[in-house]
Amino acid sequence: MNEVTLIATSAMGLEAVVAKEVRQLGYDPVVENGKISFTAPISAIPRCNLWLRVADRVRIVIGEEKVETFDELFEMTKALSWEKFISEDGKFPVTGKSHKSKLFSVSDCQAIVKKAIAERLKLKHGVASKMPETGALYKVEVSILKDIATLTIDTSGEGLHKRGYRIGQGEAPLKETLAAALVLLTNWKATDLLIDPFCGSGTIPIEAALIGQNIAPGFNRSFVSEDWKFIKQRYWNEALDEAEQLANYDQPLRIIGSDIDHKMIEVSSNNAMEAGLSDLIQWKQMQVSDLVLKEDNGYVIGNPPYGERIKDKNYVAHLYNTLGNIMNNNKTWSTYIITSYKEFEKEYGRKATKKRKLFNGFIETNYYQYYGRK
Ligand SMILES: C[S@@+](CC[C@H](N)C(=O)[O-])C[C@H]1O[C@@H](n2cnc3c(N)ncnc32)[C@H](O)[C@@H]1O
Repeated sequence: MNEVTLIATSAMGLEAVVAKEVRQLGYDPVVENGKISFTAPISAIPRCNLWLRVADRVRIVIGEEKVETFDELFEMTKALSWEKFISEDGKFPVTGKSHKSKLFSVSDCQAIVKKAIAERLKLKHGVASKMPETGALYKVEVSILKDIATLTIDTSGEGLHKRGYRIGQGEAPLKETLAAALVLLTNWKATDLLIDPFCGSGTIPIEAALIGQNIAPGFNRSFVSEDWKFIKQRYWNEALDEAEQLANYDQPLRIIGSDIDHKMIEVSSNNAMEAGLSDLIQWKQMQVSDLVLKEDNGYVIGNPPYGERIKDKNYVAHLYNTLGNIMNNNKTWSTYIITSYKEFEKEYGRKATKKRKLFNGFIETNYYQYYGRK
């Protein structure tokens, strides 16, 4: 086996960002709702897990076919070469989902796929009794959409947003993958000044610093597929060497994270230290009304409170108004704000250059983008 088909899963609205990252790694992605598929050599599994900043996880596609009956699902599953992926002692729990399909009982689909894989593996690995399932973990998923069943194995383990640096967090932290996307959706470059005036646990500044120094976001964590025999250890070593070579630890950065809450500044600074970036980001306790733009052409990227509770509405309206008054006085700055607050542009005092619908977890938000005048 030389090549595999991979799916990088993505939050809705971020598919194009993930596809761009996949292309930058040298693969040729096809984009569908929430998934980015591509064919690649096996070495892409370590590389994608290490480097994709915005994808949720990376799965291997074992097979895809139209199925309308349980028999068809069983036969399809059993005909696939699971033995090339799952070792003799491998654990293979099966999860599932079904949407707009004749086979809608997810628990039955899971049980059938489990049975078909077990039969196939017993036959191919020459196991007489039950499969032992004492070894490495291979999380299988059966996903049926409009009668097309896709069988995949997860290569990531914990979601890719778990970079390993967030040892503390505030009330409404951003997922690291979304924070990275917010930075990648701007024109910010490592040499530009960047301020997050609502930094909370520091996710945006930390992700920006990782991007600015080209540090692979998965560098400090492990992945479930590291235990798999069919991925040679050499591929993991090569991917880590590549990440080490491409990191630009000498790149100076001008990133500031500030927050009204001094406790969050302590949390942010501890998280940055955990990420190995302690000297690279300046943290300070400050309310947004004290923000002073001392030079031109900087970037504000922020995830302020959204005012989801009625009692907070006036507070956030005033907050957006304050931010708008500061930013609208220097139009060389670019401002990027994510919020679910529908009247944001009115309070901020200016129509955004561009808006992008994004989901922050289950909350529908807009990413308001004000491009600075050069
Ligand atoms: C949604 S949280 C930001 C979460 C952050 N992105 C993270 O990943 O942890 C909003 C932050 O805005 C801060 N905040 C609220 N009012 C503020 C103000 N007037 N000035 C500055 N920060 C404020 C809160 O303390 C809170 O940490």
